[in-house]
Amino acid sequence: MERRMTNENDDVPAIHRETADAWDVVAREKYGAEFDEHVALLRGGGDNLLPEERALVADLLPGARVIQLQCSHGLDALGLLNAGAASVVGVDLSAEMVGQARAKAEAVGASEASFLVGDAADPPHELDGTADVVYTGRGSLPWLMALEPWGRGVARLLRPGGSLVVYEGHPLANLWDRESTGLALRPEVGYFDVDPKEAPGFPRSVVERVAGPDGPRMPERHWRPGQVMEALLSAGLEVRAFREYPKPFWNQFPHWPPSVHGRLPNAYGIVARRPLASAKGAGPITGLKVRLDTADLDGVVAFYSDLMGLRVVERWNDGSDVGAILGLTDTVTGPAFLEFVPVEVPSNGGASVQIRVDDLDRFLDVLGERWPVEGPVDRPWGSRYAYLTDPSGVQVIVYEGRV
Ligand SMILES: C[S@@+](CC[C@H](N)C(=O)[O-])C[C@H]1O[C@@H](n2cnc3c(N)ncnc32)[C@H](O)[C@@H]1O
Repeated sequence: MERRMTNENDDVPAIHRETADAWDVVAREKYGAEFDEHVALLRGGGDNLLPEERALVADLLPGARVIQLQCSHGLDALGLLNAGAASVVGVDLSAEMVGQARAKAEAVGASEASFLVGDAADPPHELDGTADVVYTGRGSLPWLMALEPWGRGVARLLRPGGSLVVYEGHPLANLWDRESTGLALRPEVGYFDVDPKEAPGFPRSVVERVAGPDGPRMPERHWRPGQVMEALLSAGLEVRAFREYPKPFWNQFPHWPPSVHGRLPNAYGIVARRPLASAKGAGPITGLKVRLDTADLDGVVAFYSDLMGLRVVERWNDGSDVGAILGLTDTVTGPAFLEFVPVEVPSNGGASVQIRVDDLDRFLDVLGERWPVEGPVDRPWGSRYAYLTDPSGVQVIVYEGRV
């Protein structure tokens, strides 16, 4: 059965709620029976990650606080603990799924795991800023009727510098007839369709069998990767990686001959990151420069450039004004610089933290009266500086312009 499910006036949270009612049925019918098998896998230290997913997430996991949106019965989330996460919070709108996930965590003794009932499009606010990694497992995004609120929710959950990892079915796979022995288009489906539809087969078939044709509806939207990335970009996240994979993550085309497999995209992955620092509404910080006072300018410059491989960006000697700026190129987070200035200093040195922004006036507007500032002043080398002192007495310079 395929029919139009929603229009722009529909109440997205209410549709999500009904979809979760349908997943309650599927959880009781299917996943309850798989409980012991999942627990055995987890007790053995296993996880549920496919090689493609592992490649996306592996570097981010060690010691990470992970939130999984649409965590279903908890196998993915508990597997992420086995794969190196320090803690995991799973969020799912189906209370039955969350109940099963909690029972699974208890059965394997995973005290670092917790599970909450919540909508992925408006995840619990108590989790804001707590995730090093937000992970959405396979088969998640099609159940969402709107992506912008989801993107905003992900951005809320991530700490600055935290990453989202999406590994999802490719929407192109929705175009092919699953029963066909070759490549055949489903006549009623288009890649650019926007209307949510119920798809034939699992999981809808389970709900129909148990609850009959009048059971809860579970419409899907096969979001294109471009739409997913736009939702993330408009929520202020940076897209760091986008990959497509030929391997389907479930056996949805059992009758395809080998000549078809491997020639079409069946899954995709996205890694996106919340920018490291946002100067709270004043635009991103675009560089970090740390000034170190030293009694031996030549010595430290030689040390950092010859030994450490930093690049000398600038060096000057105007009589009393002597110094050098060394740049760290190819950093993950953008440009960072060390500035050395020769002064007589105590043996433990002196330092100021210098933060570069795109728009100093906007930064100062946002800062308002909340912290004393000296400046801004225009510096002879073409930058504008504002001076603050942090609570420990270290000078902080926020600047715009040249390093
Ligand atoms: C296909 S399952 C995810 C499967 C899981 N990745 C795995 O491999 O076991 C989809 C899950 O999304 C949940 N879900 C659907 N809509 C949701 C929403 N709006 N918010 C939170 N969870 C939702 C369902 O309850 C279900 O547990």
